[in-house]
Amino acid sequence: MENASSSQPPSPTRSRIPKVGGGLKEMTSALANSRSGIAPPGSIAGKISGMAPPTRTRSTTHAPEPTKTTGTTISRAASGKVHNRANSYASSTLGRSASTASRTKGFASTVGPGSRSNTGMPRPHSSLAGTRKPNGHSIPRPATSLDTHQEEDGTSVLGKRKGTDWDQESREKTMEEFYKKIISGVSQAGQESFGLKETVELYKSRVNELEEAKSEASEQNLRLRVELESMKVRLAAAEEALRNAERNHEISLDDMNKRYRVDVETARQEARNEQDAQARQHDENMRQLKRQLEDELDNERAARLREINQLNSQTAMDAQRSQIELQAKEREFAALQNDVQGLRDALDRERKGNQDLRHNLDTASSNSVTLESSIRALKARIEFLESGREEQSQAFEQINQRMMDAVAETNATKDQLRKEETLRRKLHNQVQELKGNIRVFCRVRPSLRSEPVTDMAQIQFPDDSEDCKEISLMGPEEKSSLGTVSRKTNVFSFDRVFAPSTQNAEVFDEISQLVQSALDGYNVCIFCYGQTGSGKTYTMSSLDGMIPRAVHQIYETATGLQDKGWRYTMEGNFVEVYNENLNDLLGNPDELDKKRHEIRHDMQRGKTIITDVNTVQLDSPEMVETILKRAAANRSVAATKANERSSRSHSVFILKLIGQNHITGERSEGTLNLVDLAGSERLSQSQATGERLKETQNINRSLSSLGDVIAALGQGKDGGHIPYRNSKLTYLLQFSLGGNSKTLMFVMVSPLQAHMGETLTSLKFATKVHNTHIGTAKRQARVRE
Ligand SMILES: Nc1ncnc2c1ncn2[C@@H]1O[C@H](COP(=O)(O)OP(=O)(O)O)[C@@H](O)[C@H]1O
Ligand SMILES: [Mg+2]
Repeated sequence: MENASSSQPPSPTRSRIPKVGGGLKEMTSALANSRSGIAPPGSIAGKISGMAPPTRTRSTTHAPEPTKTTGTTISRAASGKVHNRANSYASSTLGRSASTASRTKGFASTVGPGSRSNTGMPRPHSSLAGTRKPNGHSIPRPATSLDTHQEEDGTSVLGKRKGTDWDQESREKTMEEFYKKIISGVSQAGQESFGLKETVELYKSRVNELEEAKSEASEQNLRLRVELESMKVRLAAAEEALRNAERNHEISLDDMNKRYRVDVETARQEARNEQDAQARQHDENMRQLKRQLEDELDNERAARLREINQLNSQTAMDAQRSQIELQAKEREFAALQNDVQGLRDALDRERKGNQDLRHNLDTASSNSVTLESSIRALKARIEFLESGREEQSQAFEQINQRMMDAVAETNATKDQLRKEETLRRKLHNQVQELKGNIRVFCRVRPSLRSEPVTDMAQIQFPDDSEDCKEISLMGPEEKSSLGTVSRKTNVFSFDRVFAPSTQNAEVFDEISQLVQSALDGYNVCIFCYGQTGSGKTYTMSSLDGMIPRAVHQIYETATGLQDKGWRYTMEGNFVEVYNENLNDLLGNPDELDKKRHEIRHDMQRGKTIITDVNTVQLDSPEMVETILKRAAANRSVAATKANERSSRSHSVFILKLIGQNHITGERSEGTLNLVDLAGSERLSQSQATGERLKETQNINRSLSSLGDVIAALGQGKDGGHIPYRNSKLTYLLQFSLGGNSKTLMFVMVSPLQAHMGETLTSLKFATKVHNTHIGTAKRQARVRE
């Protein structure tokens, strides 16, 4: 672009503008003309007519051309700027004409009144010479001066003047012509000067144009510089970017290198690890192999050692044996030697003996006669002995016969014994029935250490030394209507009364017959009745109470009966009736009062089953202690005050005794029920509430139900209604109360005066039970039949 502007070819305008030099030449000729005087009108006219219009035309028509060329040049460089350029040119052209106009004024003022019209006058090129003449040259000069010129120039006009006489008229004509010439010359000069001015203007405008071009060029230059700068900046930016890119590239290269190195290192590490692992594996394998081989070697060695040992021992044994054999052989040898020696000796002896024999033979032959006689005597004795053996065998047969007789007799006796046992059972039962199927014993417990003697009630045992069936109590003080205070003596009689000094063993002696009845296949119920603290539990379930004693007796008797062909199995249950609910005292204590147990009666076989209860096989007499302890523990878990719970519930120890006689085929099934009743003290229902009231009501009801059942049994009505179902206890004991079963009621008595009221109540209740004896008399009669 710069080049385009710098190498711009010379503007056509410039080329078309008349060159200063050329102009000057023309002017020189014109000047010459003017100097030589006024040129012939024809030549000047011809010049004027031939000059002016084309120049003007050329100037106006050609003026835009350079612009056009410039525009083309620019458009060639940057087509986007064409219009701007054109515009700028147009403006500059306009500006130029404006400036031309302004300058024209200036010029006019300088040149004088000869101003030209804008229409433009034809201007001859040569007229420039006239305008370039010194000032005042265009102004017509006086004639005098002309003379001088004429002389100098030597033109024809002057010649004529010199050559001819002065002719005024012709001179005036000439002058006028001259004047006209001058005027036309002046106007021509003015026109020329105008043309020159135009040219000057053109030049000026050209200069302006050039300046504009210059400024444009400098602008362009500036722009280009700016562009250059921006290009530089961009270049710098590009270089920066390049550098950055290079740097990034280097960084990424470094990164890649690093990563590559890391990868290589990792790969190398992995390879190393792998190698190590393989080496380890290999080592491990080697070790295993080695171990295996060592093991095998060891085993082999051990086997070999064993073999060697075996061989050694074998060898040793062989050696020993050989040694022994050797020794034996040596001994044999020695023996043989001895034998040999012996034989030798024997031989010697033989020889000697032979001699002796020979000697003896003589003697023997002499004796043989004697011997023969002896033989004969012996034969005779043998014959005698043989006759005695027959007698002996006869005696043996006799003994055998006697033995057989004895065995038969023994069998007969055993048979008799078994029969007698059966009879005994029957008789025993008859005795028990005679004693009464319902019996009442009374036991007064001793006073305890904690109880002061002063608090004792007045209890006496009138027939203490005889039957021991009576008890008398001094009743509470009573005021008669007369005001006298008296105390009534209450006398009660029972099947047996035990004084406080009586021990459990003695008490048991009295009941052991009932235990025997249970073994014989009867159902037996033994109750302990009385207020709390009267000694029921002590009598029944203490470790030397009725329960353990009964179990021990049963064992002893059962063992004794084994000789008579009886085998017994014993099963124990221990249950509790609490709040009219049945609990298993041998079960899980957590289930107490929660688990439901039902009582089921097999009416045909007269058997009672309690559902879901634990049955303990009493394989040994010691088992009963375990049972009692477990029951006590269960009760203590169920209640914080175990004693209180036990005194407010009935506990029933059920012992089933099943006997089988494998000789006679007899079978017996008896049940012994040992019942520790709840405290009989009549608690006032008005004082009790809630659970306590319920408990109290249940105890009262069950105890009175027991009394009712016994009373009903006592009435002895065959097929009469017995209210077993009125309480859980009587329902449970249904098959052990009544019928041919035996019932024993212990009425327990506290010796304390404070308990007198309850004692009297208990004794009255027991008396009622005792009075049911009558019932059994009937059956007794039937037994007799
Ligand atoms: N015959 C007796 N000999 C000695 N102590 C007895 C006798 N009878 C009862 N006891 C004692 O009297 C207390 C109350 O007896 P217990 O059997 O618990 O009464 P219950 O069971 O009727 O409430 C206990 O300490 C017990 O050891
Ligand atoms: Mg008790």
